[in-house]
Amino acid sequence: MKAQKRSSERTSHCRDSPHSELSPGNQRTATIVGAMSRIAVVPGSFDPVTLGHLDVIERAAKTFDEVHVVVVHNPGKTALLPIAHRVSLIEQSIADARLDGNIRVTSWSMGLLVDYCTEVGASVIVKGIRSQVDVAYETPMAIVNRDLVGVETIFMLPNPAHAYVSSSLVRQVAALGGDVAPYVPRSVSDFLQAPRD
Ligand code: PNS
Repeated sequence: MKAQKRSSERTSHCRDSPHSELSPGNQRTATIVGAMSRIAVVPGSFDPVTLGHLDVIERAAKTFDEVHVVVVHNPGKTALLPIAHRVSLIEQSIADARLDGNIRVTSWSMGLLVDYCTEVGASVIVKGIRSQVDVAYETPMAIVNRDLVGVETIFMLPNPAHAYVSSSLVRQVAALGGDVAPYVPRSVSDFLQAPRD
């Protein structure tokens, strides 16, 4: 699957920058800000998406012109949900939270994450960091991704209220019949806690 978006479609999401109405000094600032306009990729397993993920997605959407949330299979993890289902739960969560319209959700299974970034013209990867453990896990990937194609990784801190939330904990609590509502968007808790045959 190729990343479908053409650059002409991408620009339609960018916020307006009326440079011409600014003073020369502010025009320069606006030009610099314009030059920094970026597509950011927020990748992950999202199995399932948590409130911590959603918080980082929202922060990324406020920071960048366009955000692509990309669901990627992590061969090091045993999956609970099919990738298409994870995508639809993220879409539903974003719609329910009424997040900005500059977010698209997709999946990538054609190789390296940086190939997706190149395909859509994204120069930044955003990852949420909850602790030093996350820094240790993410740093090698960030450096390799930059070595491969020059894409930078930006670490964002989620709301501390979500600092201990992880998809694996959510899967475990749900599997043992616990209440996951405090940790995940409504659509996810509804699905995980729906009665099964
Ligand atoms: O939520 P996760 O499981 O921590 O996300 C990790 C993920 C899927 C983003 C990472 O494993 C990844 O980027 N996989 C795609 C394959 C790839 O590009 N591997 C090289 C990374 S340096």
